[in-house]
Amino acid sequence: MSLKGKSLISLSDFSQQDILDLLDLAEKMAEAIGFDGQASRAPVEPLDCILATLFYEPSTRTRLSFESAMLRLGGQVLGFADANTSSATKGETLADTARMISGYADVIVIRHPLAGSAKVISEYATVPVINAGDGAREHPTQTLTDLFCIRRELGTLSGLKVGLAGDLKYGRTVHSLAPAMAELGSDIVCVSPEQLRMPTEVLNKVRAAGQQVTEVSDLETAIAELDVLYMTRIQRERFPSQEAYDAVKGACNLTPQIMARAKEGMRVLHPLPRVDEIDTGVDGDRRAAYFRQAAGGVPVRMALMALLLGVPCTHNKQTRQGAGFGQSYGPSEPDEVEIVTEKTVPGPRCNNAKCITSVEGQLEPRYYERGGGLVCAYCEMATGG
Ligand code: NCD
Repeated sequence: MSLKGKSLISLSDFSQQDILDLLDLAEKMAEAIGFDGQASRAPVEPLDCILATLFYEPSTRTRLSFESAMLRLGGQVLGFADANTSSATKGETLADTARMISGYADVIVIRHPLAGSAKVISEYATVPVINAGDGAREHPTQTLTDLFCIRRELGTLSGLKVGLAGDLKYGRTVHSLAPAMAELGSDIVCVSPEQLRMPTEVLNKVRAAGQQVTEVSDLETAIAELDVLYMTRIQRERFPSQEAYDAVKGACNLTPQIMARAKEGMRVLHPLPRVDEIDTGVDGDRRAAYFRQAAGGVPVRMALMALLLGVPCTHNKQTRQGAGFGQSYGPSEPDEVEIVTEKTVPGPRCNNAKCITSVEGQLEPRYYERGGGLVCAYCEMATGG
């Protein structure tokens, strides 16, 4: 199916075939930009596309790799990297921001501290929206980057045992990665202290995909059976207090001694930034794939934006057909877009303080009926209401 005009809010917005096709296209993009050190690089032709980057939370890799990807596609970039310089400080809602930026750009990337924020932008924008991390909820483009790396390093995405270690409670990357790997046929091992366990909703998605998920707390024991070890940073900024953070900091660290127990073919990934959860002594180990992983963010995001914008998928592109100022395109081309929307039911206001509905009062509370209960349609927390 064509992804033209679609948004990417959760990886479940894409079918498994969409994801595999995107990874194949990312390989072509990698070749075109000389990713593997190829001597020749196809010249970049101008592309009449503008990316808007709305970063309400800090970012290095994600924002810069999106910008690099659009520049390498031949397009242009505008946006902000600090919410304090935007009209959010004057009280502008995300809905109004979305309506307005749709007139300035052809695709929007948003990172925001609250769960459900990217969904709100996508509901009001008339151009494709990409979620670059909404609070602790999801980070689908990091997962696409992770899948690109795992497939390159191990040659497959199925039949693997994937260990997710560290902050599984607040780490949004693992909330996207665990269901995706399970859908692709790999088992998940969750390694974390008791306080940072994977949310039940995510565990249920892995089980629903028919894969095994186990929860342990000792990395040294777990590492021996893993094909992939995905390390994460303890997300200090999402903790309710400094004491709560201090109680778990350093609880799941990888050292060269622990690496000695891992399989020869195992690979270590990390979305970065790292604090101290991977000892720098591990960096020289050929199984440490995290810097190679980060570099892959550019061809992956090139492929994603090319597909959502429906621009030709080679590096020798033509100028995309302009929609004209003020006209909407993307989601307004119904023959190109199959919108599959999970049915929602009304309900009381969500009680999750980290849900976008807690600050954007104009949003009507909406719920999905899942697993015999209700989850908020914005933050997907079962605690809603
Ligand atoms: C991650 C994030 O922002 O969730 N970083 C990234 O995008 N590569 C991981 C993190 O901040 O720990």
